[in-house]
Formats: sequence, structure tokens, C-alpha cells
Amino acid sequence: SISDCPIVTDGVYFIIKLSLLSLFAIFAFATCGGYTGQLRVSVDCMEKASSNLSIGIDFAYPFRLHQVSFEAPLCEGMRRERVALIGDYSSSAEFFVTIAVFAFLYSLMATIVYIFFQNKYRENNRGPLIDFIVTVVFSFMWLVSSSAWAKALSDVKVATDPDEVQLLISACKIQTNKCGSVHGPRWSGLNTSVVFGFLNFVLWAGNIWFVFKETGWHKGAARYPGGAPEKQAGTFNQQPYNQGSFDQSGGYSAQGDLGQPSEYSQVGGPTSYSNQM
Ligand SMILES: *[C@@H]1O[C@H](CO)[C@@H](O)[C@H](O)[C@H]1NC(C)=O
Repeated sequence: SISDCPIVTDGVYFIIKLSLLSLFAIFAFATCGGYTGQLRVSVDCMEKASSNLSIGIDFAYPFRLHQVSFEAPLCEGMRRERVALIGDYSSSAEFFVTIAVFAFLYSLMATIVYIFFQNKYRENNRGPLIDFIVTVVFSFMWLVSSSAWAKALSDVKVATDPDEVQLLISACKIQTNKCGSVHGPRWSGLNTSVVFGFLNFVLWAGNIWFVFKETGWHKGAARYPGGAPEKQAGTFNQQPYNQGSFDQSGGYSAQGDLGQPSEYSQVGGPTSYSNQM
């Protein structure tokens, strides 16, 4: 049955894992990169005619708040002033989204390589080795970028708090005018992005162990405890392994064309085993 074959269960597990990583990366960058928010304040001047009771202020990813400006009444006739928010959180936000996008692209690429270039992936253990290094790097990057983004988000929340924004409006500094907050921005989307950032860190960090097992280093270290394990393992693996895989694929096609299974049962361990099945 299918579950008896390690390659198939490994493959299914591998692809489910990569799909999960891709999906969580998409959630992380979509919730952050797709965000738009609005807050609304009111400026109620003593001379009612110049009041504006509904000043909407829109902002979005990448949170260059110093570039977000709005018009507020000065409460002196019809004169108005242009007020800008404070702060630039684009570096943290863009860093987070960039890591998420690259994590997604890597998961996608790894899936394609795994499905279509299985032989290349296994060749000289190159695939698992690269996968291990990239996974460690991405885990670290997820942790750093999620932390940076979480900090930036808490600052963005302060900078776009309607009560804080009122302090920037000149008219609000005069006691006789009344300023108020109509509504603040919704944060659920951005809170979700931070949660997904740390969730991605946990997933990738947990994945380090599974990728480490794929490299076979834990077995290699046990087999060659004294000397240089990598060099020995390399010279030992390189030629017989490659030949084995070539024989195997050759054996399969020849077997289909000619139907001589007895000849191929002599070739090697794994091949003869699969032919007996
Ligand atoms: C109030 O400010 C908004 C901008 O948020 C503007 O579109 C609107 O025309 C202003 N209303 C008045 C009465 O000036």
C-alpha cells in the first residue's frame, strides 16, 4: 500500500508542510501589506461656521505617517491648515512584508524543486543541506522582522490615536475650541499580521528539526564519531549513490520496455527490493 513506501509518505508530508508554510506566509504579508485604516476627528470651533466635525484621515501600508496629511480648520474665519502625522514606520513594515514574501516564494520554489527535481534534490544531499541553511535563516528573520513589526505597530497605534492627532491641530490648543475623536482605526488586520508573524517563526523554527533529519547529519555523526565525517561521507556517498540512482531510473524504463526483471534484481539493494515487489 501507499503508506509502506517511504518516498510517497515523505513526499506527501513534505508538500503539506510547504503548503502550510506558503499559506501562513501569505496571511502574514496580505494582512500587513493590504492594510488601509482611517481615523476621524472633529474640530468644533467657537464660531460654528468654521468647524469641521468630521475630518477623515486615511493611512495605509507602508506607514510613512509623515507623508499623511489632512486639512484642519484654524477656527479663524475659513482659514485652514495642513497637518501631517508624525513618524515613518516603513522600514519595519517593509522588512516584515519582504521576509513574508520571500518565505512564500521559497516555499513555492521548494515545492516545485521537490516535485519535479527529486533526483537533483537528493543528489549529494544538496537539497536537504540548502533547505536546512535557508530554514535556519528564515526562522531567525521571522523572529527579527515580527518583533520589529510588533514594535512599529504599537508606535503606529499611538501615532494614529485620535486623541494624539488632536494635539497636532493648532485650533485644538485653544481652550475655547472643542476637539474630539469620532473613531479610531481598526487594528484587527494588523494585530493578525503580528500573530501570523510569530506563528510563522514557530513553524519555521519547528521545521528546522525536520529539515535537519533530512540532511542525515545526526546519522552521519553517529557513523563516523572520530574523524572528519563530512569528507568521508562525501567520498563514500558520491559515486555509488549517483550510480545507484541512474541505475534505478534506467532499470525502471528498461523494465517497462523489455520486461526482464530478473536481470535488474542483481543491480543493487534498493532496486532489487523494488523489483521484487
Ligand atoms: C472637513 O474635512 C474633510 C476632510 O477630511 C473635507 O472633505 C470636508 O469638506 C471638510 N468639511 C468642511 C465643512 O469643511
